[in-house]
Amino acid sequence: MPSLTALPEFAALRAHRDRVGDVPVLAHFAADPQRFAHLSVRLDDLLADFSKHRLTPETLRLLVALARIRGVEARRDAMFAGEKINATEGRAVLHTALRAPKGRVVEVDGQDVVPEIHAVLDRVAAFVERVRSGEWKGHTGREITDVVNLGIGGSDLGPVMVSEALWPDHHERLKVHFVSNVDGGHLHRTLRRLDPATTLFIVASKTFTTIETLTNAGSAKAWLLASGAPVSAVAKHFAALSTNAEGVAAFGIDTANMFPFWDWVGGRYSVWSAIGTPVALAVGMDKFRQFLAGAHAMDEHFRTAPLEKNIPALMALIGAWYSHFFDAETTAVLPYDQGLHRLPAYLQQADMESNGKFVTLEGERVDYPTGPVVFGEPGTNGQHAFYQLIHQGTRLIPCDFIAAANPRHPVPVHHELLLANCFAQTEALMVGRDADAAKAEVAGHPDAERLWPHKVFEGNRPSTTLLFRELDAFSLGRLVALYEHKIFVQGALWGINSFDQWGVELGKVLAKRLQPKLAGGDLSAHDPSTAGLIEWTRRLQKEG
Ligand code: F6P
Repeated sequence: MPSLTALPEFAALRAHRDRVGDVPVLAHFAADPQRFAHLSVRLDDLLADFSKHRLTPETLRLLVALARIRGVEARRDAMFAGEKINATEGRAVLHTALRAPKGRVVEVDGQDVVPEIHAVLDRVAAFVERVRSGEWKGHTGREITDVVNLGIGGSDLGPVMVSEALWPDHHERLKVHFVSNVDGGHLHRTLRRLDPATTLFIVASKTFTTIETLTNAGSAKAWLLASGAPVSAVAKHFAALSTNAEGVAAFGIDTANMFPFWDWVGGRYSVWSAIGTPVALAVGMDKFRQFLAGAHAMDEHFRTAPLEKNIPALMALIGAWYSHFFDAETTAVLPYDQGLHRLPAYLQQADMESNGKFVTLEGERVDYPTGPVVFGEPGTNGQHAFYQLIHQGTRLIPCDFIAAANPRHPVPVHHELLLANCFAQTEALMVGRDADAAKAEVAGHPDAERLWPHKVFEGNRPSTTLLFRELDAFSLGRLVALYEHKIFVQGALWGINSFDQWGVELGKVLAKRLQPKLAGGDLSAHDPSTAGLIEWTRRLQKEG
């Protein structure tokens, strides 16, 4: 395949950018009074507004043409069909099958995987019911009050993000905690208020080899045993979510308490699998199934809607538009919902671990930018922190604003204020404030001449708004799947493998080699900076 940038479709976009890229978006609105209708797409109650972007319907047509010539649709179909599109690991990519309804047939190596998926879901449901109802007892016969999920990366970020988002659905008695970091402080501060007799640990690790998780699990086991619990208590206080039954058994967890998933589920795409068990413990299995149903609704949209009206595809293509033709290197995710406070972190892994690659599927170095730097915080908090740079900084930062029309709390007035801020920000970014308005703003001030340039907002700063009825389990599933597919389309456009993560390996290997050196030994194999840091640590540790 010729390089992306050598394609005539790419050249057409470049020429188009020269024509329309610097036109004020407000001028586009003036030229097309129906622009909002033309450039927003609906899926049931979900509205994706693309009209505040620096583009026209013609831009989208050209972007879609580029996606088509890059084979995005064929790759999408191959993913849904269970083909081994994760070529470097020789695996299918089937997180979509995890949310497929019973009866759907999805084959891997000639075998339908959907019945197995539902069998595990049913086992998870039975376990969740036993723990939530109080039937599952700890070793002293008391019911479980606290669940601690021990996992990292995809075995943490998805479950914690979803649990936080669905806080109104939380169980009254059962509290779910998440410990991910190998920093012992994370485990210690979580456990110090818990009672070992009423605490259930979920060890979540796809590979069951991840050092952080296994270290935390080992320390959690020691904490349980140190409380006087017999070794047999481990069976009542530990469950595992993994693809590695041998590793689970070797750790000492009864495989009857293990909920499996499969190698065709990527870690960062695994919240829909048994890895979602802590979510189901927090909000109940019905809600978890609604979460899956929401994702399935988005899968169907992504699978069947033409690219021109396909929300994840359009988000992906618009993101690429800014990467390739406006030198945008970042993208901000700005949920106007405190419950979504871990969504940016979740999407950092989903996007940056998927598309942070400089080598194409053919093994060639790309000559174009790939995955953006993703960052964000909930609004309005972000407004009081980093929005300054988005409004008046020197970089172009495309933003996603995310909001629900209705709150899930009873406190009056706040939601109107929240939404007003959300819409006002998108408006301010686009409309800006020109020199005349800035001068008028400071008119009469003794220092007006010096001040007015600081009050100018260039405007024309792009944003997408995703607006839906309410942040319930269904709409959350739909939102997360939307981002998964956006990432997929960008990976396909760029010709990279979005489903491996070799870039995390080297650091792990070096950490293993380096750890014993903290205690002492020859440092000549290390570069002078690393050796210097180790030496300084040794000295500070000696001093205490
Ligand atoms: O180091 C990165 C990674 O492999 C992620 O892709 C994964 O989500 C995380 O580690 C945790 O892996 P596991 O679930 O196997 O413990």
